[in-house]
Amino acid sequence: MPRKERQKKRNKRIKVIGISAGATPNSRSELLLNSLLDKFLKVGYKISKIAVRDLKISFCDGFKGCEKTGICKWHDDMRIIEKGILSSDIIVVSSPIYFTSLPAKLKAIIDRCQVYWIRKYILKDFNFKLKKGLFISVAGGTPDFSHAKAIIKAFFSVFNIKLVGKYYLPNTDIIKKEEFIKNINEVKKLIKEVVK
Ligand SMILES: Cc1cc2nc3c(=O)[nH]c(=O)nc-3n(C[C@H](O)[C@H](O)[C@H](O)COP(=O)(O)O)c2cc1C
Repeated sequence: MPRKERQKKRNKRIKVIGISAGATPNSRSELLLNSLLDKFLKVGYKISKIAVRDLKISFCDGFKGCEKTGICKWHDDMRIIEKGILSSDIIVVSSPIYFTSLPAKLKAIIDRCQVYWIRKYILKDFNFKLKKGLFISVAGGTPDFSHAKAIIKAFFSVFNIKLVGKYYLPNTDIIKKEEFIKNINEVKKLIKEVVK
């Protein structure tokens, strides 16, 4: 079997999950994510995507019951996020910037990860091999993306995901179509951060 074919076969075992916080399937952040996922697919990786907008997620209200039991009181679509992350090797989060931060629903998902934080650091029954993470973000203007990045890093660290690459696209509210298409191609280069 030629080297390229063998590599593609090996790559088939590697799973990539994209988590999109875009408001619609045509959101700029989601189009960038799709483009990167397509690239992963081309090199043979197994890909899947979760759209945050389709999930039913309750807010963490700091009830603290999980501190003793390691179990969240809410039983909702967080199990989709948990299963998606735990069964993947590479996690890509793609999100717009809302008020210099992440959209509330994605932030609600991240807050709900407190139960995993408790399990990892307090109850010490939750740990895994290191995974790789990528972060894509878009913004209408030119905000400081580092606020959102800090939250993503904290989210990733609970699951032992190392943030290895990021792609920010500012000025989406005024960007021309041709310019956006250039970015659609550019974002694919993130693959180099995980495929060595
Ligand atoms: C609720 C809300 C808050 C926003 N806050 C910001 C902001 O703080 N800074 C900014 O540059 N753009 C902000 N925007 C603009 C979005 O980041 C921009 O329209 C982006 O392209 C939306 O992402 P999407 O195309 O993936 O849906 C905001 C948009 C909304 C709806």
